[in-house]
Amino acid sequence: MSRPSRNTGNAGGRRGEGRPIRPPFLEVNSLKLEFDVSPPWVQRVVSKRPRQWLKAVDGVDFYIRRGSTFGLVGESGCGKSTLARLVVGLYDPTEGAVSLGGVNLTGLRAQGRLGEANSKVQMIFQDPYSSLNPRWKVGEIIAEPIRMHGLAEDESAIRRSVVALLEQVGLSGADARKYPHEFSGGQRQRISIARALAGEPELLICDEPTSALDVSVQSQILNLMCDLRDEHGLTMLFISHDLPVIDFIADEVGVMYLGRLCEVGTPEVVFSRPQHPYTRMLLDSVPTFQRRGHAGHAMIGEVPSPINPPSGCTFHPRCPFANERCRAEVPALIRSGESWVACHGVAEGRIPPTGPDQSGGG
Ligand SMILES: Nc1ncnc2c1ncn2[C@@H]1O[C@H](COP(=O)(O)OP(=O)(O)OP(=O)(O)O)[C@@H](O)[C@H]1O
Ligand code: SF4
Ligand SMILES: [Mg+2]
Repeated sequence: MSRPSRNTGNAGGRRGEGRPIRPPFLEVNSLKLEFDVSPPWVQRVVSKRPRQWLKAVDGVDFYIRRGSTFGLVGESGCGKSTLARLVVGLYDPTEGAVSLGGVNLTGLRAQGRLGEANSKVQMIFQDPYSSLNPRWKVGEIIAEPIRMHGLAEDESAIRRSVVALLEQVGLSGADARKYPHEFSGGQRQRISIARALAGEPELLICDEPTSALDVSVQSQILNLMCDLRDEHGLTMLFISHDLPVIDFIADEVGVMYLGRLCEVGTPEVVFSRPQHPYTRMLLDSVPTFQRRGHAGHAMIGEVPSPINPPSGCTFHPRCPFANERCRAEVPALIRSGESWVACHGVAEGRIPPTGPDQSGGG
């Protein structure tokens, strides 16, 4: 999509610039999720095959400061949505924990004691139609979280909240009486946003919230989300394939490859001086970023299967800088200049610095 123009009135550029550094609010520690993708028991016994596990998220650590937005990028199948679903609690992790404001949500959930912490994290999905119950009127859809979490005193207070939320997202109070099918895709995403806000969340997880929409409405929804984030002081985890969108909305970006983070830093630094060979390849494939001195290159190869991922650095079959160490040893995400990078080549100083054509062989 074209680069959206920001109309938040938030002069001074990105959120967080020039503000005091706050402690981490969302903390994701060593998070893993392996899906059991084994064939049925009888088939396994007959063919003498062991169970099969798919490593969708394979040890992810990051944090987001209160009021900041963390953007997550990476090719299809890298585990972005699975990570989002783990954070919101739709999946239980195989290992690791998610904490919000110092409260271990994973531990509370396992004990069935999540209580009011449950409403603090809300999610907006890619497809605004399938995430809204088609048999419910919009007013009921938005009222549900208010009722569920006891956020209004009585029915008339609930109705007032619903009208206020609809108006905040650019719809009218009368829309509460309509059904989701009576709205366009962009309007349905506005309803999803109103429903997410109805739970009075502190953390909003957005999984490709604009990618199913017409290009003409993508910018409107993105600008609306920025405005609401600023008004409500929301912390956001924002997933998008669209690097210019992440560049626009995020204070920090994490590049994900086969279930792990390979580079984390500000979009300013990561998009103009990428260090990890995968980040470089990803940026080189996006024409918009050629403005920053990158020659255009197609992506080399495909993401391997997370069922039997490559040994060591899982990017090694596609990496022009791979050596023996890369094939044997998993690189840790460590500080490198202004960013965090998981790459032996970067740590050893054998990857040439970012230049006008820095893909290293693409
Ligand atoms: N419920 C599931 N059961 C088994 N495997 C799954 C399940 N959900 C996701 N996967 C697998 O986990 C891996 C990560 O999937 P995920 O949807 O998180 O990727 P993604 O980065 O969000 O991709 P996309 O950009 O296409 O949305 C993929 O290999 C996918 O096939
Ligand atoms: S660790 Fe090795 S294979 Fe992996 S990205 Fe770095 S140089 Fe390439
Ligand atoms: Mg996804």
